[in-house]
Amino acid sequence: IPVEDFDLVIFGATGDLARRKILPALFRRFCAGQMSPGARVIGAAKTRHDAESFRAVAADAIREQSSDRCCDEAALGRFLACLDYVPLDALGETGWTDLAGHLDPGHVRAFYFSVRPMLFAELARRIRDYDLVTPGTRIVVEKPFGRDLHSARDLNAMLASNFAERQIYRIDHYLGKETVQNLMVVRFANMLFEPLWNSQYVDHIQITVAESEGIGSRADYYNRAGAMRDMIQNHLMQLLCLTAMEPPARFSPDTLRDEKLKVIHALDPVLPHHIVRGQYEAMPGREADHPSYRQAVGDPRSTTETYIALRVHVSNWRWAGTPFYLRTGKRLVARSSVISVVFKDAPHAIFGQEGGRHINVLTIRLQPNEGITLQVTIKDPGPGGMRLVDVPLDMTFAEALGPEGEHPPDAYERLVMDVIRGDQTLFMRGDEVEAAWAWTDPIIAGWEARGDVPKPYETGSTGPRDAELLLARDNREWRGIRP
Ligand code: BG6
Repeated sequence: IPVEDFDLVIFGATGDLARRKILPALFRRFCAGQMSPGARVIGAAKTRHDAESFRAVAADAIREQSSDRCCDEAALGRFLACLDYVPLDALGETGWTDLAGHLDPGHVRAFYFSVRPMLFAELARRIRDYDLVTPGTRIVVEKPFGRDLHSARDLNAMLASNFAERQIYRIDHYLGKETVQNLMVVRFANMLFEPLWNSQYVDHIQITVAESEGIGSRADYYNRAGAMRDMIQNHLMQLLCLTAMEPPARFSPDTLRDEKLKVIHALDPVLPHHIVRGQYEAMPGREADHPSYRQAVGDPRSTTETYIALRVHVSNWRWAGTPFYLRTGKRLVARSSVISVVFKDAPHAIFGQEGGRHINVLTIRLQPNEGITLQVTIKDPGPGGMRLVDVPLDMTFAEALGPEGEHPPDAYERLVMDVIRGDQTLFMRGDEVEAAWAWTDPIIAGWEARGDVPKPYETGSTGPRDAELLLARDNREWRGIRP
């Protein structure tokens, strides 16, 4: 179903995010017939382009990102005709009147801040000063949303002085991922799981977001952020919330966000010995093609972590006594995001203890090879007695859903269209972001006070050995990174 006619202004339209994610996502929605015929995408940036040269940049970016299935050149030509460009200075007055002239008062209006956070306030103020805000105007803000509670509060206050909360769309792109939404559907649309989804039946839960890539070209940003700010405070926190929260009454923005917020408020402070920080180092002899983190950022004394594992407690009625183990890292053995719900032992072993422990594990694979596996125990065939064996009841979404499941839409496709539709359900509310920082800040302050130095781990490994010990101490072990 096409969305309403809209004018989407992308500030930073020639930047990395716009080229890699936003423009290709819009094109795919255009191919799917979701962009209305009157829709306009207006690039706005300092680079001196006109509409034609901006379209050429967009075309290159889309061709580069498109899989063959969607890069239909005729469709691309029609999509490019919806694009326009206004050279504009975020810090000055150039271009703003011109931008105003491009906007249609009858269209839904959205301003996408795909720029460095230091420009957010300047953009917000000028959007106001040039009278570009209509009642239906939305603004879209990318992470990092602050670097601590103080800066996040300042940012929220600045946005609140210019826009209403219902107009602000704070992106955490993990919420746009198909399988992350599926996590809610699996939990709340099936009768099977929810009765068992608590500390009475669940021994512990693991949330892993492993990356094989390094830090790319973002050395400056990453060296100031580290894995805690870059991944745990936002993406893993969102996964934790969706896994741990109570069922919202409806799938609507505030009911969902209220439940997520309650989870963050229920988090205990993390004890120092429940966290392992790591930093990747080169394997001996492989320094040239896989340099160490310190080489990659050109900072031989950097103590920024590229890996974190931690044990988290959600102190509420449902989860008391069931720990959540979170881990994420760069340059690990594989790219794999997985949630594993590890159930308790059956209360009594009627077949004896032969063959060790047998437990049920529900594994939700967020990426790649999206799907669900339930580990169940069955009889090992043969006349030799009641020997037990664990086997997977396995479903990949690609097999179950056919071509639709094989190419799930990119997170940005869903999120950009939700902005136009005016649906904030998959976006973070201001208080949620602040609560996440309020939990994160003391952890980081503790490292700084203690002069904590991350543990080295080899590129291509599963992370520092101490992360194994974190679970071993609790008589548990990580599920493999390659599930
Ligand atoms: C970003 C982080 O928000 O998410 C990156 O800044 C990280 O460091 C990326 O690589 C991971 O996203 P995805 O979609 O590739 O899992």
